[in-house]
Amino acid sequence: MSSSPLFTPVRLGALELQHRVVMPPLTRMRSRQPGDVPQEMNAVYYGQRASKGGLIIAEATDVSEQARGYPGAPGIYSDEQVEGWRQVTDAVHAKGGLIVLQVWHTGRISHSSMQPGGALPVAPSAVAAPGDHMDIQGRPVPFETPRALREDEIPGIVDAFRRASVNAQRAGFDGIEIHSANGYLIDQFLQDGTNRREDRYGGSVENRARFLLEVVDAVAGAWSADRVGVRVSPWGHFNGMSDSNPGALFDHVTAELGKRGLAYLHIVEPRADQNSDTNALDPNAPDAASRFKSRFGGAVIAAGGFTQATATGAVAEGRADAVAFGRLFIANPDLPERFRRGAPLNRYHRPSFYGGDARGYLDYPSLDSEAA
Ligand SMILES: Cc1cc2nc3c(=O)[nH]c(=O)nc-3n(C[C@H](O)[C@H](O)[C@H](O)COP(=O)(O)O)c2cc1C
Repeated sequence: MSSSPLFTPVRLGALELQHRVVMPPLTRMRSRQPGDVPQEMNAVYYGQRASKGGLIIAEATDVSEQARGYPGAPGIYSDEQVEGWRQVTDAVHAKGGLIVLQVWHTGRISHSSMQPGGALPVAPSAVAAPGDHMDIQGRPVPFETPRALREDEIPGIVDAFRRASVNAQRAGFDGIEIHSANGYLIDQFLQDGTNRREDRYGGSVENRARFLLEVVDAVAGAWSADRVGVRVSPWGHFNGMSDSNPGALFDHVTAELGKRGLAYLHIVEPRADQNSDTNALDPNAPDAASRFKSRFGGAVIAAGGFTQATATGAVAEGRADAVAFGRLFIANPDLPERFRRGAPLNRYHRPSFYGGDARGYLDYPSLDSEAA
């Protein structure tokens, strides 16, 4: 089995992986309250999922108070949070694993109960997401219409991403992933369904990509480009996203990112519907990793509905350099080892994905614990 393409080493910028089974960012809403501080339980969870030379991308983490959008999601803007994350990175490093931090600003996918001073969430334009979100107590509430950011506020948000990357470095992470996928603030700037601006940050694809590229340049400048990854989700409709011409938009975005010597591009295939158990492809969407890998020119992690078999094919055919498995990693702390041995997989329990205690978080068995 060890000759399988998933179990060969690969280099993502400065990150040297010994295998290609990646744990993608997974929001679990279990940080210590108040303060959104990573705690012991989180360190145990990530430690369980670490493997020698394997890459973990830690869950989406708020770059500022204004970035908050989910109760219990962690932050990386206070000293207490940095200390909390240090326990997590230590637990992963103790097993010889690598861990990068995904950083986000949720933009309009928030609620005033989570915002400083009870203010409205902010976004490129005053366009509400469809349907319901949750408030600070986790109760369902309709999405509010966000406040459109003034142009003079944008440098402050770019700087929050820069500070987050400095803090991630202090907390012992091996790198940082900028969350530009799934309908959060950066994606809201990219796509014209949510960006109606008429200034330098709206209109043409060049203008809509400006905010992302400013964030990337600030983060890379504060640390090192070869430790920075970016996650995108072309053709994804999660969180009410749409664009009039996603092919042209993401052709531009991926080519620009390709000029920057980044560690990797992380592409969410549109087949991943986060709220159902299907692996079905969106029949209207092309294979995003294939389309954008050559434009980007660097290493690509693909995610979204992969099985061991389809991931092996993607790596063997050169469509991806590594593959991330979300739901499978929730339920299988030792997923790479199970793949390696061809062992059966645990099933995941969706009701315990978001929030709660150690149940559905720390209690999925590993092969070793089953044998004991
Ligand atoms: C519980 C849960 C939480 C998630 N949280 C995040 C997140 O914080 N950041 C992100 O970019 N994607 C997030 N995703 C998407 C996953 O990273 C992944 O792309 C998705 O689950 C599809 O992969 P899969 O089919 O292997 O599960 C989440 C998915 C799930 C199921």
